[in-house]
Amino acid sequence: MFRSSRASVALLACVLVPSLAAIGCGGERLRGEETAVLTAPPLVPPPITRTHPTKVIVNLEAHEQTARLADGVDYTFWTFGGTVPGSFIRVRQGDVVEFHLANHPSSKNPHNIDLHAVTGPGGGASASLVIPGQTATFTFTALNPGLYVYHCATSPVGMHIANGMSGLILVEPKEGLPKVDREYYVQQGEFYTRGDFGVAGHQPFDMRRAIDEDPAYVVFNGSAGALMGDKALTADVGETVRLYVGNGGPNLVSSFHVIGEIFDRVYTEGGTKQINENVQTTLIPAGGAAIVEFKVETTGNYILVDHSIFRAFNKGAIGMLAVGGAADSSVFSGRQYEGIYQPEGGAMQRMPTAAAPVVPTAKNRAEQIAMGERVFAQNCAACHQPNGSGLAGAFPPLAASDFLNADPKRAIGVVLHGLSGPVTVNGVQYNSLMPALSLNDEDIANVLTYVYSQWGNNGTRVTPDQVKAARAAGGQRVNMDAH
Ligand code: CU
Repeated sequence: MFRSSRASVALLACVLVPSLAAIGCGGERLRGEETAVLTAPPLVPPPITRTHPTKVIVNLEAHEQTARLADGVDYTFWTFGGTVPGSFIRVRQGDVVEFHLANHPSSKNPHNIDLHAVTGPGGGASASLVIPGQTATFTFTALNPGLYVYHCATSPVGMHIANGMSGLILVEPKEGLPKVDREYYVQQGEFYTRGDFGVAGHQPFDMRRAIDEDPAYVVFNGSAGALMGDKALTADVGETVRLYVGNGGPNLVSSFHVIGEIFDRVYTEGGTKQINENVQTTLIPAGGAAIVEFKVETTGNYILVDHSIFRAFNKGAIGMLAVGGAADSSVFSGRQYEGIYQPEGGAMQRMPTAAAPVVPTAKNRAEQIAMGERVFAQNCAACHQPNGSGLAGAFPPLAASDFLNADPKRAIGVVLHGLSGPVTVNGVQYNSLMPALSLNDEDIANVLTYVYSQWGNNGTRVTPDQVKAARAAGGQRVNMDAH
């Protein structure tokens, strides 16, 4: 009660005052008027250089549209500003924000907005409720600095958020934020689709899965791979990077981590006073945010993940910061040596004394496929995914793979010896490392025959004799740099 009455008094004062051109909230003079620059993720509007509060007009549109959720997977997103997460809004503490929410005439649902930066009932929700083809306006004063989530709060609230209706609003403190070289907007969120991760086609929302908190997708910036490959974030050595990280949820808490970096500073929970230093992983609650800053000291690809790690490698919560410039080997050497590890010493290699375990031999192609499926599940599915789809920006697909179908002998070599360097599969370049798998000839023949029999591949049968011949011919890791 106290809070809402205090808020209404504050609102009254700050809204009335500009018309009188007198003193705004916090004793600062409110001057002028401007329309907020909104940006689509991962971009952030420029820092505010004003040293006084002003009236800021924000025009945001709710728009329902079908777009890519993952390769081959579409989803009908409900958006703020046409993107998931919604447009980034940047104002200054003390600004009087005149907020216009419009609902596109093509929408099928009413929408509204609850901004966590608002002091006032519902964060603006009922004041902004609009049916398709309607627009509504309300005004609030940005009393508290910080990074805040906004989201739709129309019933069923969870469904509107789950369909993509959340984003971030930054209220810069009066003194501004320290200058950095790069600023980016990253927001995590889950999607509850009828089909599991990677199941192709247009996927409808699944309310049962949402209630059970069992998402098929956990992603950054609205889709699997939104920050991978040529869409990776970029920086150069020596620069300081600031990430505005939100978590729209609707259900899960994020353990936000950047592999290979340490956050020099974390504005805990998006507040401005509690700044933690030297942090590996920061917890971001559903409906919460954090600001993380770090200097990039050497080159390479730094991987953004939710460190609840199955979400990263199996549900899409993975992104990339590609750092260019000159590598600093005093910070990180890279791999300096590679050799044979002999735990018993070179002279003590034991020959097997017992009879080698009996490996059942497949009698025909059908048996090879059945046995190969088990080898695949144990050795390959974690990276290439159970349905062979691969992982955008990280692991190439095996499904309908032109690389695989073009050259079975090369494929045998890859499984025998591993693969490194850039490789182009179905027109997309990948650059990761595949280790040599210590499988016997029979297993390699079976797993390849299985893969060739699946997902639109050309049905090639690979025999143990072919693998044996390739092994006898020798060779080493297939290095695509040399091709
Ligand atoms: Cu909505």
